[in-house]
Amino acid sequence: MRADTTLDRRLENVGPMVENVFSITRLHDLDKVVRLKNFCPEGVQVDCDPKLFFRILYNIVLNADQAIQTNGRDINSGEGRISVSSKRLTHGCEVNIRDNGPGISEEKVDKLFSSELRSSKAGGSGLGLAIAHDLVNLHGGTIELLYTGNTGSCFKIYIPDQENPKNNGDENADDFATSNKQIVA
Ligand SMILES: Nc1ncnc2c1ncn2[C@@H]1O[C@H](COP(=O)(O)OP(=O)(O)OP(=O)(O)O)[C@@H](O)[C@H]1O
Ligand SMILES: [Mg+2]
Repeated sequence: MRADTTLDRRLENVGPMVENVFSITRLHDLDKVVRLKNFCPEGVQVDCDPKLFFRILYNIVLNADQAIQTNGRDINSGEGRISVSSKRLTHGCEVNIRDNGPGISEEKVDKLFSSELRSSKAGGSGLGLAIAHDLVNLHGGTIELLYTGNTGSCFKIYIPDQENPKNNGDENADDFATSNKQIVA
């Protein structure tokens, strides 16, 4: 199926968006194995399309939650932990998502953001991080795996602010870099 989506960017507070992601994630953890920690300071904003940014965060947080629940064998109930922090930089916003799960196997790391990755999860498409990567790219940003190992994993997202919005209202403005991009999902 093909669907075209136009980016609808605005400045959004990161903390409440993380809280929304956590509320949905909790529905997948009825035994409360994982503690979800929101370390986003009040007032830190990200210049994003909120629905797409939610999807980026959710795909990453859900993976961490699933990894802890299925493979975090040394983690007892309540000891699993996912934390999200954010900070404002001069021209954008950085968000870090850390977990204390089992880490990502070496053969997966190379293909992590590619659609070639095959999921080992029942019902998984293996596309969650590829989609997150595409959505971050649409915002002109970057997504990286900062580290992974037997103490857990950490992803970093950077979303730059849109270029100077002084072009707003100028029909000839060349604003292709940050708005009106089309995605295929
Ligand atoms: N935080 C994490 N800890 C451990 N493994 C992870 C983590 N994040 C991703 N992975 C591994 O990377 C794989 C790819 O993740 P991705 O979200 O792209 O696909 P998926 O979760 O398998 O499928 P889908 O997202 O469609 O349900 C996962 O199957 C999992 O093995
Ligand atoms: Mg996934």
